[in-house]
Amino acid sequence: MSRPPAHLSGLRPEIPVDRDIRGPAVPAARGASRRDFLRGLAALGAGGVLASVLPPAERALAKSAGVAFPATSFPDGVMAGDPRPDRSVIHTRVTAAPGTGRVPLLWLVALDAEMQQIVAGGIVWARERDGFSLNHKVEGLLPDRWYHYQFRGPGAVSDVGRIRTSPPRDQPADRLRYAFCSCQQRGAFYVAHRSMAAEDLDFFMHLGDYIYVSDGGTITLDDYRARWRTFQSNPELQALQARLPIVAMFDDGEFYNGVDSEGPPARLEAGRRAWHEAMPVRRNRRDQVYRRFSWGDVADVFMIDVRTYRDPEVPANDAIIGFDTQNTALPGVEGMFAPGRTTLGAEQKAWLEKRLTTSRAAWKLIGNPYNFGPWKLLDNDTPAIRENPPPDFIPNQGTYVSNEAWDDYGAERRELLELIRDRGIDNVVFTSGHTHFYLTTELMPDYDEPGAPSVAADFVTGSLTADPHWSDFISPPNPTLLRGIEDLFLLNNDPYLKYVNMFDQGYAIVDVTPEELIVEYKVIESLDPDAVARTGARFRMVNGSNTIETLFDERPIERIPPGG
Ligand SMILES: [Fe+2]
Repeated sequence: MSRPPAHLSGLRPEIPVDRDIRGPAVPAARGASRRDFLRGLAALGAGGVLASVLPPAERALAKSAGVAFPATSFPDGVMAGDPRPDRSVIHTRVTAAPGTGRVPLLWLVALDAEMQQIVAGGIVWARERDGFSLNHKVEGLLPDRWYHYQFRGPGAVSDVGRIRTSPPRDQPADRLRYAFCSCQQRGAFYVAHRSMAAEDLDFFMHLGDYIYVSDGGTITLDDYRARWRTFQSNPELQALQARLPIVAMFDDGEFYNGVDSEGPPARLEAGRRAWHEAMPVRRNRRDQVYRRFSWGDVADVFMIDVRTYRDPEVPANDAIIGFDTQNTALPGVEGMFAPGRTTLGAEQKAWLEKRLTTSRAAWKLIGNPYNFGPWKLLDNDTPAIRENPPPDFIPNQGTYVSNEAWDDYGAERRELLELIRDRGIDNVVFTSGHTHFYLTTELMPDYDEPGAPSVAADFVTGSLTADPHWSDFISPPNPTLLRGIEDLFLLNNDPYLKYVNMFDQGYAIVDVTPEELIVEYKVIESLDPDAVARTGARFRMVNGSNTIETLFDERPIERIPPGG
């Protein structure tokens, strides 16, 4: 990967742009007045080019100098989404009085952060029916580089954000480096966001719980919009989003706790619409948010949606399978492992399977909102039990930590892993959120089969903010006891669970080259307003190995040997 932003200086002056409207640079003063906005329009129009590419209404606007626009501001900052070789979606929201209808904005893309070397621009409208938010697709960009963008409206100029374009699909690329994160609470210090913004990254992947709604009080579109606005007003979050493109997927916090496909339709639609209004992801005709993008030949990145098509979770009692080996009544066997139960839905599963099978990229990285790897509290499928199984033995039986994860869809998970194994698809890596704990897991279709080789990996990040802080788990706080619980998890998820960390919050970084993938867990003391993230653990996967090597662990645990 070429590192930003030095390579911009190598750009040819005649680069193709979105629309060929290069003209005099528009003044970039902060706090520009309405007159500056009009002057900006005039400057672009003065080249005579803007008018030729705009529809009549916008053309009239561009020529006008006396239209009375409402004063605007940009309360959520700016965002650029999903890097593609030639395009990106840029996003903002403006304030306007009810009844305004629509507000014109000038958007500009430049080579420099001072917005002097403009290469593309035009007029867009923020419409009241969209909550005065907008997602604009900037096209015609050159691959594998950084651009800067800005919105200008009457009486206000937005922050300058950065756009990243990706290397073209299947073309040689030497590196991709991104962060993945999830779960942010209001009222917390956004120190993890600040640290992430200082990292050298191509983008950051937000895997959901970007907002948490109040389950009883967030029902209508207006309720959801209000919730988004409180979360998006955070200046550290806005600074991160201006600096780095975001690749976003929702979890349940954006709808309500434990959301699935059978929720109240009107509420699901309100949450979905508010998400599209708040994130730089344009709503498509098929209303699918799962998607793939590529980073040259080094990686295909799949963002999967585990919520929209998800079967309701197995009732909690049924999830406790084979808890007592003396009483193997195994309630709910038809639940967690029942064939046909899905979190992806048939169409998305077929899409994912096809693209995993045909991908020519070195690494297949899956942005996955909730943990893929198995996570048992108690294990009732040990080698000893398997050697001499009770009559109603169920493979993989045990007490699972949560039935709000892939553990609740055991058959679908196994099917995916069998495909990966049987088709010899190397280098499939899930990067996941949701748990609020760091977990590192090797994956195989039957994870309790002694000696089964790993065929893929799951890395799960902790939460961005203290939610909760580790000291809240046990009262009074007892780190020794918590370490003991971690040890129990390692014992009961042996040997596939490689690492568990219930103490730290933060984010994670993936650094891939054709040869290897490195994952770093960047942990932070989230109750300290001045905290800076540090590396808590580092893992490596060598191309073709499908196994995880722990390079560094700042708090190594002596593993209790199984049966010990
Ligand atoms: Fe969460």
